[in-house]
Amino acid sequence: MLNISRRRILQSAIAITPGFLLAKMNTAQAFSLKDAATASLGSLVDKSSAIKVGKTLIYSGQSASGQQIEVVITRTKKGLFALNGACTHQGCGVALQGTQLVCPCHRSVFKADTGAVVNGPNGAPANSIAPLVKFKVTESKGNIYIK
Ligand code: FES
Repeated sequence: MLNISRRRILQSAIAITPGFLLAKMNTAQAFSLKDAATASLGSLVDKSSAIKVGKTLIYSGQSASGQQIEVVITRTKKGLFALNGACTHQGCGVALQGTQLVCPCHRSVFKADTGAVVNGPNGAPANSIAPLVKFKVTESKGNIYIK
């Protein structure tokens, strides 16, 4: 029997689904939330200039407990939004499709800015799962921080 991890299956699904190719993973600017508790602004994620109005980027980094997490950062005319990229249904990593975040596991859809649920797993109503978890996001001196 083949032993393929869930993450490996997801990576394959993302690689072959054209819509998911729009998602950009910024691994060069990896962050760690381990220092967010002690740093007044939080953890440095990227330069402010990296995310223009209307743009969403997904960053990979470490949680405070050292686990890998993805953070989705979107800039709108209303400001910056930072979300935990783990789907609130069963924790799969969401991917960017246009202005929405789609979970490849059971197709839940979230708004990329607020994390609000558009539809739940397999077409279930929006109120069937929680919105994506938000991070506090701050800009200072041309840099973006999350906490
Ligand atoms: S884990 Fe995301 S929809 Fe099920």
